[in-house]
Amino acid sequence: MGDLYQRLTEAEDVLNRLTGRDGHDVVAVLGSGLGGYPDTLDGAVAVPYSEIPGFPQPSAPGHSGTAYSLEMGDNRVLLYSGRVHHYEGYSTSEIVFPVRAAIMSGARKVVLTNASGGCTPGIDPGDLVLLTDHINLSGLGPLRGDNDERLGTRFPDMTDVYSPALRRKATEAAASVGISLHEGVYMWWRGPMFETPAEIRMAITLGADLIGMSTVPEAIAARHMGAQVLGISLCTNRAAGLAGRKITGEEVIETAGRAGRLRALFDALLPRL
Ligand code: HPA
Repeated sequence: MGDLYQRLTEAEDVLNRLTGRDGHDVVAVLGSGLGGYPDTLDGAVAVPYSEIPGFPQPSAPGHSGTAYSLEMGDNRVLLYSGRVHHYEGYSTSEIVFPVRAAIMSGARKVVLTNASGGCTPGIDPGDLVLLTDHINLSGLGPLRGDNDERLGTRFPDMTDVYSPALRRKATEAAASVGISLHEGVYMWWRGPMFETPAEIRMAITLGADLIGMSTVPEAIAARHMGAQVLGISLCTNRAAGLAGRKITGEEVIETAGRAGRLRALFDALLPRL
């Protein structure tokens, strides 16, 4: 396996060489059903994850496994179309490797998107929600094992995982294109099964507004490396037991794929983040 820092340096070198840039300012991870966003953009250089050492290959539907590099406003932006999840069999350290490599290449701002189930009344399918905090119910995390101080401190603070400054910028960008954003706390469940109604009642009692199967490991790794994080969730369904019907993976992907609002928000936000 080799030393993590060494492996990240190798991935960063390949990423820079294949994208033809000497680094990036912003990285955005496109979650379930959102991976088509780069198709709407001109001038992006596409690099398959398979060409970048250490990058895991996504198997979940709607996750292609391609990195896109382009300039948006003053920012050199890296878009990751597709991420891997714990339920695919990857460890949390493997999950966060692409985000860590982007941060090594200079991306001090990390935008994490996901599809989620809404728990709080008023958060409905199609709504966009800025994450204000998360609850790591899984107890898993990418910082287990030896800590390399070149990456970050052993005991990173988790007070403002989701940057208040970036949240303000996102709110302004959304207002400029007539989009309203909710705010909420995201709870990570490992999946791949959706939750039971009893689990959702518990999650609500514990303070969750949204439920999903990603994002938290990447947010932890990004904070460990001192990057600023913005979390944006697209509610694709009411969480289990709240809508009086069953949830399917197909409906999640389909609702996320129709999410024109997130595309419009990205167009307004990424150039000025
Ligand atoms: N639960 C967990 N993950 C999800 C959901 C959900 O209801 N919807 C989209 N991703």
